[in-house]
Amino acid sequence: MINIAIFGFGTVGSGVADVISNNQAEIRKTLGDNVHVKYILDIREDIPGVVHDINTIVNDPDIKIVCETMGGKEPAYTYTHLALERGISVCTSNKELVDAHGVELSAIAREHNCSYLFEASVGGGIPLLRTIREAFGHEKVSRIAGILNGTCNYILTNMKAGKDFDSALKEAQANGFAERNPAADVEGHDTARKIAILASLVSGKKFSYEQVSCEGITGVTQQDIADAEAQGMAIKLLGVYEAEGPSVVVAPYLVPKSSPLYAVNDVFNGVMVTGNMVDNVMFYGRGAGKLPTASAVVSDVIECAKNQGHNIHTGFADIQPVGNVSAPSKPEGQKFRVL
Ligand SMILES: NC(=O)c1ccc[n+]([C@@H]2O[C@H](COP(=O)([O-])OP(=O)(O)OC[C@H]3O[C@@H](n4cnc5c(N)ncnc54)[C@H](OP(=O)(O)O)[C@@H]3O)[C@@H](O)[C@H]2O)c1
Repeated sequence: MINIAIFGFGTVGSGVADVISNNQAEIRKTLGDNVHVKYILDIREDIPGVVHDINTIVNDPDIKIVCETMGGKEPAYTYTHLALERGISVCTSNKELVDAHGVELSAIAREHNCSYLFEASVGGGIPLLRTIREAFGHEKVSRIAGILNGTCNYILTNMKAGKDFDSALKEAQANGFAERNPAADVEGHDTARKIAILASLVSGKKFSYEQVSCEGITGVTQQDIADAEAQGMAIKLLGVYEAEGPSVVVAPYLVPKSSPLYAVNDVFNGVMVTGNMVDNVMFYGRGAGKLPTASAVVSDVIECAKNQGHNIHTGFADIQPVGNVSAPSKPEGQKFRVL
């Protein structure tokens, strides 16, 4: 039996418990063992068996893996630190923490023969980071262009269908895939964190979210969307990393029909990765939501369970800051960049 704990029993954390209980047979088949949620840590009182003291969890020798699905920097950072120092692997969906402290936390994990994995922090349910880590390790990745924020894509898709910005945002929030603070979505900060993590992973240099040239979708009008459509294009909020420069930009782009990203609608995410040997590879799937995101967290739990007592190398523990990042300007006189 693999005993785990969940830190933060909100949308994603409760999804982790659901995935584990609904797919126990599949997990057992993969792992040859059962995964059991021994502890749930949350501030709420109305969760059966909830604990509030982190020490109850990190002092229990049965616990070898925790899922950090609280979000935010604190206390997620302190709790993650405490767990890793005890040799407990941490699987997280918290992109803010990965961007800000992922390097340090990965180094602590390596020092204590455990792992810090963050598959769910980028692309929700899409198996993106593990695939890049395992199947692209020998590739020189020249470019990544991704629709990485389900809320923005949902809003832009619904604006194209005639809905106004505010009601599309409210629907996204009601469906549980918008961030608590919608500014993080619509101003592009969430996408910036995700493309910074991807750029770091493929380049072996640490890009931070502050280095991303970032513009959100609040300036996009229904007229802009109609004009784009008349030219055979769609407006999508993209995160774009270019190895040359290097540059990392988040902005609304005009995406031509010929691009597979054109057809990525609603809450779906799409990520195009260009390697020097493999050429273009397209990833597509649900970029947010309770069960898809939880599915990615559980995939990390399974990887940690298979590698108990070992550090899973993600490249983040040794990574050095990237230094200067360029910010290519928009074409003269145009409101949008073109993909
Ligand atoms: N939702 C998605 O689709 C999605 C997708 C990808 C990644 N993520 C990321 O996953 C993380 C969690 O997101 P979420 O949507 O699941 O958030 P959420 O629904 O707000 O869940 C967070 C949970 O953590 C609890 N919590 C907050 N502070 C705590 C503390 N000090 N001690 C114990 N528990 C605490 C919250 O309790 P209260 O409710 O009482 O505050 C809540 O139950 C975030 O980093 C987010 O960016 C989410």
